[in-house]
Amino acid sequence: MEKKFKRTLVTSALPYANGPVHIGHLAGVYVPADIYVRYLRLKGEDVLFIGGSDEHGVPVTIRAKKEGITPQDVVDRYHNIIKESFEGFGISFDVYSRTTSQTHRELASEFFRKLYDDGKFVEMESEQYYDEGEQQFLTDRNIRGECPRCHAADAYGDQCEKCGATLSPDELINPYNADSGNKLVKRKTSHWYLPLDAYQPWLEQWILNDHKEWRSNVYGQCKSWLDTGLKPRAVTRDLNWGIPVPVEGAEGKVLYVWFDAPIGYISNTKELLPDTWEQWWKSEDTRLVHFIGKDNIVFHCIVFPSMLKAHGDYVLPDNVPSNEFLNLEDDKISTSRNWAVWLNEYLVDFPGKQDVLRYVLTANAPETKDNNFTWKDFQARNNNELVAVYGNFVNRALVLTKKYFDGKVPACGELTDYDKAIIDEFVNVKERVENLLDQYKFREAQKEAMELARIGNRYLAETEPWKLAKTDMNRVATILNLSLQLVANLSIVFEPFLPFSSKKLREMLNIENFEWTSLGSTTLLCEGHELGEVGLLFEKIEDDAIQAQLDRLERIKKENEAANYKANPIRPECTFDDFMKLDMRVGTVLECTKVPKADKLLQFKIDDGLATRTILSGVAKHFNPEELVGKQVCFIANLPPRTMRGIVSEGMILSAEDNEGKLSLLTVAPNAKPGSEIK
Ligand code: MF3
Ligand code: ZN
Repeated sequence: MEKKFKRTLVTSALPYANGPVHIGHLAGVYVPADIYVRYLRLKGEDVLFIGGSDEHGVPVTIRAKKEGITPQDVVDRYHNIIKESFEGFGISFDVYSRTTSQTHRELASEFFRKLYDDGKFVEMESEQYYDEGEQQFLTDRNIRGECPRCHAADAYGDQCEKCGATLSPDELINPYNADSGNKLVKRKTSHWYLPLDAYQPWLEQWILNDHKEWRSNVYGQCKSWLDTGLKPRAVTRDLNWGIPVPVEGAEGKVLYVWFDAPIGYISNTKELLPDTWEQWWKSEDTRLVHFIGKDNIVFHCIVFPSMLKAHGDYVLPDNVPSNEFLNLEDDKISTSRNWAVWLNEYLVDFPGKQDVLRYVLTANAPETKDNNFTWKDFQARNNNELVAVYGNFVNRALVLTKKYFDGKVPACGELTDYDKAIIDEFVNVKERVENLLDQYKFREAQKEAMELARIGNRYLAETEPWKLAKTDMNRVATILNLSLQLVANLSIVFEPFLPFSSKKLREMLNIENFEWTSLGSTTLLCEGHELGEVGLLFEKIEDDAIQAQLDRLERIKKENEAANYKANPIRPECTFDDFMKLDMRVGTVLECTKVPKADKLLQFKIDDGLATRTILSGVAKHFNPEELVGKQVCFIANLPPRTMRGIVSEGMILSAEDNEGKLSLLTVAPNAKPGSEIK
């Protein structure tokens, strides 16, 4: 089965260029894809790794509007940020292009046009919400209105964020355009649909029968879509950002972003290999693999394959290893709530520690269920695994060799039974790791790799060569020879996972390159070979670096809480006459002191424009009296006097109180004459 393929074409979901990429992207898609292609390359297989930015779609236009720039500005900015982040983490794309490229525009147009000419679409008219003022049709996300369930005032056309209900725009009460605020009317519009229902029997055969080996989360989601029954899907939109529909009379319409984006995989290949791209996409002996996150499953397993099938010339995916989601500190990662660890920021905060994040994200990869990233776990995995296990073993083996053998690989003498047992433990590591990688089990594969370092540590701890140095240098030589062979094996086995560290390790070993095929060998380093300079492979991460990250998240949480803050409901009506009975005035604070033995009270002396009046106010917990002197405050001047603690209070100072009890003093700007009436 494996042998029928000559080459492997690996794609990774094209991220939307409307924001930077975060750890969820890296864990879900790019690190596993990168491990996979690095592994295949090491094995000498013919492999291409395709990436790029997904630059069309409504979110880009929303962002552009918000910032007062063009959609092209938005995607230019984020395409570059994203591309740099991926480079920073060593994601080894053969090409990273974008869906606004000329090549893509042409190819996506041709693709659509072929399906159109071959009669693969159905054209249907429907009524959609239209903003007459702006002269545009609206997408679900751009429509807002009252939620039919909880009556929140500002539910979206696809969802109410207050009660969580999934909605359709038709259900909203009094829908309006989220941008312009205009009321919406219904207007007829016509679109092209891919009749997925027609592909249902074929999809059932192809997925449910022929691809039982797909991950259960992927298979299960496909099955549930198929069980529900597929419906035609519109592949065009009324929008002014995207690839124009290449049909006469389709002005103002563009290809739906989920129609054009996956074609980007093909266009980007074409851009890289203008002459030979078809060999990759149009031969049966290409194995196509899509790495994606779980929200992309339906598009990559059902919609895009149906498009490819309808077109007829292209290969279909052999596998779609999709991950579940990664949470951050037990909360869903969210771009709009800024609840994420942004890759561009990580690269600044933790320079040179790309592999640490790669390691932690693979160790916690959400392969079978949603998983959680915490900074404490990040620190623990670095300090207890990378530093204490991998780094420690490497360091001991190299430093001891420097010490006892002047940095040259010593001769391997006669092996003891214990040596042989150790060798037995790691000779078939290649097979085990390969097996797991071939099944896209990256998390377990990395664990196997780490097991090698554990074996090494155990070996040194058991044999204690430093104790033998005085009595039996031959034995020390054998132990260190074997240990160095293990170190060399580590640099090979970790190469797909931790490429930066493997490179560093090879420099310490003074070796250009190892072959993946020699993984498991105990003769990688010849006797007498001189090691390079020894440094630390990994460094401990201290508490303060972790605390800084936790503080940042805490700050964001507070900001979000503030953004979601909801004031108390409005009180029952008060008549105008009632209101006019209140005499509210501006006064200047002449003195402000704490009232002895009353921890809540402040005593104000106020110039009210006629006289000096005394007011007591229960705000001592909230304000510092010295800071109030000289300020202008607002007060009610015609309340009946009240005596507290033997002092007569002649009024009430006004401040604003939120529903959590926090006070802000009411003051006036610009300054007003004392005694000015507030109306
Ligand atoms: N931009 C999409 C997302 O981030 C993924 C697009 S994948 C492609 O969810 F197949 F369309 F390219
Ligand atoms: Zn609601």
